[in-house]
Amino acid sequence: MLEVKNIADLKQKIKDLKAENKTIGLVPTMGFLHEGHGSLIKKAREENDIVVVSVFVNPKQFAANEDLSNYPRDLVKDSAYCRELHADILFIPDADEIYPAGFNSFADIYQLGDNLCGIKRAGHFRGVCTIIVKLFNLIKPNRAYFGQKDAQQLAIIKRITADFNFDVEVIGCPIVREADGLAKSSRNTYLNSEERKAAAIINKAMQTGQKIIADGEKNTAVVLEKIRAIIESEKLARIDYLQAVDLENMQDIATVKNNTLFATAVFVGKARLLDNFLIENID
Ligand code: PAJ
Repeated sequence: MLEVKNIADLKQKIKDLKAENKTIGLVPTMGFLHEGHGSLIKKAREENDIVVVSVFVNPKQFAANEDLSNYPRDLVKDSAYCRELHADILFIPDADEIYPAGFNSFADIYQLGDNLCGIKRAGHFRGVCTIIVKLFNLIKPNRAYFGQKDAQQLAIIKRITADFNFDVEVIGCPIVREADGLAKSSRNTYLNSEERKAAAIINKAMQTGQKIIADGEKNTAVVLEKIRAIIESEKLARIDYLQAVDLENMQDIATVKNNTLFATAVFVGKARLLDNFLIENID
């Protein structure tokens, strides 16, 4: 596995691979890799000649009051994990390499970014769109892999890929969970043991929501209220948002139909944890 820190080396390598007609699968990450990331790398490995993993804690997607400086990092472990999963290239640039002095541009999104995490994290998706546009331009992947855990991010990246005419197939991958249902996340490391136990309530509540819908409930307010009550029964959990939206436009929706996304962000201690489920195949 080749570790690349600078853009000039990356560009040369990509040019060589393209000349050889190799297909490239990209897995963008912020590191502190876990099996959620691993599932994306494995899928990329199955579907492409070359797998590129990027590890970059992107400062532009963190608001001033957020956890940029505390965000967990372990490049040695990340590199070993990528090697184990047979990635070919690990791109690990410094912030100055990505955003050199004079950097003055953004890529951004309209409606898809103006709800859920987009309201709660000002500027977040602008930062995400900007880094993804840069990575797509630099790496020219045939396919790029993203987790359904960040469902709004996935929808936004699909949109900008189409809007900016990138020849990239954006592939969404299922949420990988711990045994008690908690979605795996680099931020789970912020939880102490009591908080870690409490965090299981999030998925427990979401599963109940799914069950109520499977039993025939179509009113999103009823479903949301039930989920809310379960999460709020846990004293250590504080809901940041809990909403039902139409996946197509990320706007709130009153009646459950196909492509209704139930999404939540819940603080447990310092950690802000995401979970969601998507309604598919209902009459
Ligand atoms: P990060 O949080 O490191 O996640 C990288 C990718 O892994 C994202 O596509 C995310 O949805 C996916 N992922 C994380 N946990 C997962 C889980 N439990 N199951 C399945 N997939 C999971 O998301 C980002 O980084 C950044 O915003 C990034 C896209 C890299 C841009 O900076």
